[in-house]
Amino acid sequence: MKVVVLASGRGSNLAALLAARDAGTLPIDIAGVYGDKPAAPALDLARAAGIPALALRPKDYEDRLAFDRALFAQVARHEPRLVVCAGYMRILSDDVVRAQHGRMINIHPSLLPQYPGLHTHRRVLEAGDAVHGASVHFVTTELDGGPVIARARMPVQAGDDEAALAARLLPLEHRLLVATVELLARRLAWPTPSGVTIDGRLLDAPLALRGEQLHDAGGFVA
Ligand code: GRF
Repeated sequence: MKVVVLASGRGSNLAALLAARDAGTLPIDIAGVYGDKPAAPALDLARAAGIPALALRPKDYEDRLAFDRALFAQVARHEPRLVVCAGYMRILSDDVVRAQHGRMINIHPSLLPQYPGLHTHRRVLEAGDAVHGASVHFVTTELDGGPVIARARMPVQAGDDEAALAARLLPLEHRLLVATVELLARRLAWPTPSGVTIDGRLLDAPLALRGEQLHDAGGFVA
């Protein structure tokens, strides 16, 4: 499956995809990595792996739509089956999101639909939640609001602060993203107004990560 990754920062999720690809467990071709921050380590990581990588600068464009159109013109050159937003921190215009319907996913550090947007770790602590987690969802025009494909959960522990939660969640995010991209490479998953279908069957609830695998109520799915 041909994949393009969008990233703005550190690139640890991209690194996890590359590692799984290299290990032969994830049947994808990462054709390009694009972003909005020329200095992002994610781009260096891609180049070091021999993958074309480019950041456009928002200030070089008249408005958000012009920037997004230029960015997605780069993406489109690869004709990817899937666009993975892996720490892409810029809001996308509705036009480009609609054009990628069913073909674009995002990883978000909360148990969606709880806590869309920023500062998820802080908000979990402020609410006194016992459980935190991460989600991978199809991207729609609602911010962090598209149908959720899969989630990974972890307990909040006494004494956790934002940094501790973020550090403990990150390796779970990596496993969740790799497992979800693998699912999309092997099965036909699609967003509908009532949720995600897999090979035409509507999921009752988002899939749950157990170890390295995604499960539904009946067991392992991919
Ligand atoms: C991750 O926490 C992801 O959930 C969020 O941004 C962070 C990206 O990290 N959307 P990295 O750049 O993949 O290391």
